Amino acid sequence: MSQRAYLSRKLSIDPGEILSPGSFEVNPEDRTLTDTELVAAAKDCDGLLSMLTDNLSAETLAQLPRLRVIAQHAVGVNNIDLAACAQRGIVVTHTPGVLTNATADLTMALILGLSRRVVEGDHLLRAGGFTGWSPTLLLGRALQGRTLGIFGYGRIGQAVAHRAKAFGMKIIFCSRRPVPQAAAEQVDFDDLLQRSDIISLHSPLTPETDKIFDAQRFAQMRAGALLINTARGPIVDEDALVAALESGHLGGAGLDVYSAEPEVHPGLINRSDVLLLPHLGSADEETRRRMAEMSLGDLRRVLDGKSPLHPVSAQP
Ligand code: DGY
Repeated sequence: MSQRAYLSRKLSIDPGEILSPGSFEVNPEDRTLTDTELVAAAKDCDGLLSMLTDNLSAETLAQLPRLRVIAQHAVGVNNIDLAACAQRGIVVTHTPGVLTNATADLTMALILGLSRRVVEGDHLLRAGGFTGWSPTLLLGRALQGRTLGIFGYGRIGQAVAHRAKAFGMKIIFCSRRPVPQAAAEQVDFDDLLQRSDIISLHSPLTPETDKIFDAQRFAQMRAGALLINTARGPIVDEDALVAALESGHLGGAGLDVYSAEPEVHPGLINRSDVLLLPHLGSADEETRRRMAEMSLGDLRRVLDGKSPLHPVSAQP
């Protein structure tokens, strides 16, 4: 019997460039399917090309009995029950490396946008509030000489460090593992919180990092510090973030990801000290093409009986 694949969303390229015609089906709607819809659509499939928005829990997987491979069109795989996949022998692949630069670029866009009040300036001008150059209009923060604390020093964290250095920032980072010969100072979590003017999150979402930025951690951060998150929303306790912004202790936040996407905490929406983006970390044309090619390529390889090039390695 021929192998069949289901693609849970339309991609930025034609899947027929990589999969054989007639061997796959694509969700025709431009939205995430509910669990029930996904199961109904993929139940006879051997392979699934999934998005970070698909809930691939043990319960969902149990209803996809033929599944042999999940090719995730993302680097993060926190939406997939990896233990259940391992038990069933389902191969999981992802797209590491190709979205490093795109995500690091967007992180810099948030750091710069928030520090230099770019969106506030745009809104002010469009609302007719630009009445001429002023020595006191929308003064922001300089990056030169400020300390950027990077939480999670994998590929993306390091790419952000590289960029921020060019802006004259001092970089410190914390990571679960020692990083010998790092081009920045490795510190412990408490130090990172206490010494950073801006903290940028680049760790995966795991049980250990779930809501690790909570009220106590925000209280440890410097008065006026900024928080940037292009990693995963649930790493931050959003109620605590809103409280830290409302009290004036934190100076602002630049967010691309949220706890319950696409919902955004109502306490964030109307704040001018918060810059909000709709999960655009990897959203440039070249990167999305590479993500599509990589995930489709591994889907095809596994269905053809070959080893994938980008398997998700077991979590240490
Ligand atoms: C990822 O790959 O984890 C990104 O968030 C996708 O945009």
